[in-house]
Amino acid sequence: MSEILLTGGTGYIGSHAAVELLEAGRDVVIVDNLYNSEAAVIDRIEKITGKRPSFYELDVTDKAAMESMLAEHDFSGVMHFAGYKAVGESVEKPLEYYRNNIDSAVTLLELMAEHGIKSMIFSSSATVYSKSDKVPYVETDPDTGCTNPYGWTKYMIEQIMKDAAAAHPEMSLVALRYFNPIGAHQSGLIGEKPNGIPNNLMPYITQVAAGIRPKLNVFGNDYPTPDGTGVRDYIHVVDLAKGHLKALDYSEQNTGFEVFNLGTGNGVSVLDLVKAFERVNDIKIPYEIAPRRAGDIATCYADAHKANQILDWHAELTIDDMCRDAWRWEKQQRGL
Ligand code: WQD
Repeated sequence: MSEILLTGGTGYIGSHAAVELLEAGRDVVIVDNLYNSEAAVIDRIEKITGKRPSFYELDVTDKAAMESMLAEHDFSGVMHFAGYKAVGESVEKPLEYYRNNIDSAVTLLELMAEHGIKSMIFSSSATVYSKSDKVPYVETDPDTGCTNPYGWTKYMIEQIMKDAAAAHPEMSLVALRYFNPIGAHQSGLIGEKPNGIPNNLMPYITQVAAGIRPKLNVFGNDYPTPDGTGVRDYIHVVDLAKGHLKALDYSEQNTGFEVFNLGTGNGVSVLDLVKAFERVNDIKIPYEIAPRRAGDIATCYADAHKANQILDWHAELTIDDMCRDAWRWEKQQRGL
């Protein structure tokens, strides 16, 4: 069978997708510049699956290097995970975000057109809905635009994919709009590894649990939500990875451009998640109510029916699974 190329395949979501693909019997080649990940992840993937993906340390925007790599393989599809992903940083460095994220997507699409590679699965984000004020978010919602440059790169890449699919009718390009991926592989061998102080809730909670940070700041308790704290659609990263396999199967049987939400369809508040973590892992998470974080919205969750029906994909793992697996991963990293 032909191979699947994973850009950003040593990152948080890419590594979990690599495991699911290998376990489904697919041949996987990973390209990553290790900007925000490490080569040891390849060993971890091999340890979990018993199969070692081919690995190239290179940058997707380096078209010549990509050409040389492509000459050694026969790809039928690409999963494009590589990209800058920090919302706050994107506000500080918008040009770097546009240059890197847009350039890598365009380079990859050019290479696909030139080499007759049909399928692309792209990591988009629920952030493309972030100016909308009605939940749940449905793929058919009118475009509202984004609140930060990171989100705009996702939005613009979706548009580029749509235009490329129209001009290349043999192609099948799928954008997956992720809600809030958390948790880690059940093996405890791969997971999210934030640099410095975590921006996102679950990595912050696990670092408080590990004693690295004294307490969690809960950003606002006066939102129009049941307990006043922000509500999100947390999805286990393994469920998310499995959604990529279903999207790949779909793209192999179809052509054109398509968008799917990958979420559970359930909203969970900050305090709900803290309480679940405390209960499941039997650890107290000290927290304090802090001011709202700039740019946050009250509530964000998916209408997941389209992926449920068309991809035959459902999120199966629970909030308890997410809390247990996130903590197992944090402990493994810290030697606890
Ligand atoms: C979740 C909730 C916070 C930290 C962001 C990006 C999105 C995607 C994922 C990807 C909110 C609250 C958080 C803390 C808190 N990016 N919170 N204390 O903001 O929904 O999504 O990350 O690559 O594009 O926007 O996720 O985990 O940061 O926050 O109270 O220390 O937790 O206010 O309500 P968010 P998050």
